[in-house]
Amino acid sequence: MKVVVIGAQWGDEGKGKIVDYLAEDAKYVVRYAGGPNAGHTIVVDGKQYALHQVPSGILYKDKSVFLGAGMVIDPEALFNELQMLKDNGIDWEGRVFISDRAHIILPRYREMDKKRDAERKRPIGTTGRGIGIAYAEKAHRDGIRLADLDWAQKMAEFDGEDKAYLDKYRDRLISMRVDLTAKMHEYKDENILFEGAQGAMLDIDSGTYPYVSSGASCAAGAATGCGIGPHDLDKILGVFKAYETRVGNGPMPTEFNDSDAAESELCRTVRETGREYGVTTGRARRCGYLDLVALRYACRVNSLDSLVLTHLDIYDPMEQIEACVAYDIGGKIVTDFPAGVEDMENAKPVLKKFKGWKTSLKNIREYDKLPKEARDYVEFIEDYCETKVGIISVGYERDETFIRTGVWK
Ligand code: IMP
Ligand code: MG
Repeated sequence: MKVVVIGAQWGDEGKGKIVDYLAEDAKYVVRYAGGPNAGHTIVVDGKQYALHQVPSGILYKDKSVFLGAGMVIDPEALFNELQMLKDNGIDWEGRVFISDRAHIILPRYREMDKKRDAERKRPIGTTGRGIGIAYAEKAHRDGIRLADLDWAQKMAEFDGEDKAYLDKYRDRLISMRVDLTAKMHEYKDENILFEGAQGAMLDIDSGTYPYVSSGASCAAGAATGCGIGPHDLDKILGVFKAYETRVGNGPMPTEFNDSDAAESELCRTVRETGREYGVTTGRARRCGYLDLVALRYACRVNSLDSLVLTHLDIYDPMEQIEACVAYDIGGKIVTDFPAGVEDMENAKPVLKKFKGWKTSLKNIREYDKLPKEARDYVEFIEDYCETKVGIISVGYERDETFIRTGVWK
């Protein structure tokens, strides 16, 4: 069975934790988009791991992981990350593979990325990891894939620092290189987990363009990014937080307003208890009310079979919770997520109030044991999005999670 896990917001929804949790029953984990711009945090037995390129399944000693064709790979950062795992007692050799169709990020792309963003009239606030440059080279048809590493004519075109860099990593990359389509066919009867990066609203096509990343973080990206067809995806899960966050620039209709005392206090609480600081860049994340207009759009555009709700415990102390059920755009009430940047920027959230539960959810492992107020919040989300919430996370640890609807069946 093939299960896809995507972020249903602007990234940082807790995909790393959920992929790690579901990976227990998968034999293989395949990451299909992005590169070292991603930051996936996983906490196991009190120990925290920050992964950027290696799929989250790596922490299980018996799983093999694949970096898909839809990814852009920074070899230097990748081997540093693998060394970090080894230093923590995680033996990765022989179980990390990279698609021969994945593209390579050259070191100079990082500076090009930063320079380009600084020169933009409306900077995106990229992570500066060279991601956009690598995808642009790919779209220009000038990219370098792992498959090209032994294409003599192409390799002869590189000189200086580029050549030295490619020479340095060439053999190691080749030793991990696989034909991912053939592998996926070989393993077709096994449980495979497809791990997205970033989130639905940062997808190059369906996200808040131009304030997006440049890969396919949508569910369809799992097919193109892993060399399989769309019919092969059996189930698609979308992870979202009980509130909203975004790193970098771009519209965020439900962002807490810093000049409002109550919202600014709410922002502080959510940011501190939710540890809302970027894993890759350390930037404080922008925080806001749960945006159901955007979430329902993400459900539709990604055919989500079910939702995974994380960080529900962050709302434990709240007297009252609010979520956005529509946008007011210049007096017009809108419930379909708009494409126009000015519409997104002018959208004022129409908020619905929910009663808080004012108790700790940390030790709850069954849906029926949740306080009624928490269930009311969850069930409103389900009704609004016409999508069930199948898994709920109430803490950072792997086991602070519970399932309502089984995934691998
Ligand atoms: P880039 O992917 O570095 O080009 O950045 C483009 C936009 O996507 C910026 O706003 C980043 O902050 C955002 N972004 C990229 N990767 C992630 C992620 O993994 N989580 C959250 N935001 C991200
Ligand atoms: Mg992240």
